[in-house]
Amino acid sequence: MSKLVVVDHPMIQHKLSILRDKNTGSREFRALVKEIGMLMVYEITRDLPLEEIEIETPVTKTRAKVLAGKKLAVVPILRAGLGMVDGILELIPAAKVGHIGLYRDPETLKPVEYFCKLPQDVEEREFLVVDPMLATGGSAEAAIQLLKDRGAKNIRLVCLVGCPEGVKMVQEAHPDVDVYLAALDEKLNDHGYIVPGLGDAGDRIFGTK
Ligand code: PRP
Ligand code: URA
Repeated sequence: MSKLVVVDHPMIQHKLSILRDKNTGSREFRALVKEIGMLMVYEITRDLPLEEIEIETPVTKTRAKVLAGKKLAVVPILRAGLGMVDGILELIPAAKVGHIGLYRDPETLKPVEYFCKLPQDVEEREFLVVDPMLATGGSAEAAIQLLKDRGAKNIRLVCLVGCPEGVKMVQEAHPDVDVYLAALDEKLNDHGYIVPGLGDAGDRIFGTK
């Protein structure tokens, strides 16, 4: 079974509380999603491997550590996942960005695919699939499957708010994919919204209804 990690850094928790508040407007909401995305990935990438190279400082030759191993790619699930990308790219400017377009049918709550564009070297990359919300888990499960169908072998899922139902679905379908959340909320309501949650992430980021 994969790992579930709740990244409960105080800065992340503070920003998440403002994000949840229904009085937080789109501009601040967008900024917070970006910041929390960056802070989460900063924590999550603690385990990236390093290698030593030789460099020359203005004073002397020395050996210094640089990132080694697989190159990263960020894959937002459209639309709301887009809100997390810029913050992550500030941290990892060399990362490639793939896009997977899925929306949740309001009746069935099942994900419907409408777009998929990934980096060419899928098998060589470590993927961070990002989406603010992990509700039923259907969208994340489908996005991960799409990546695997195209050859991805190394995938982590990074969401801001999740619930037990979504975590269970992803972990059962993809026991090799670790799940990272800023908060594990209580449950889903009858409309498939996370409780207490933060409402509709895409609408709040983009100011739509
Ligand atoms: C939201 C959210 C996730 C999905 C989560 O997207 O951003 O992608 O729902 O729900 P699930 O776990 O039950 O699949 P939505 O379908 O509303 O599309 P949007 O990002 O375009 O607003
Ligand atoms: N999608 C959202 O944006 N919010 C939820 O609570 C559930 C799905």
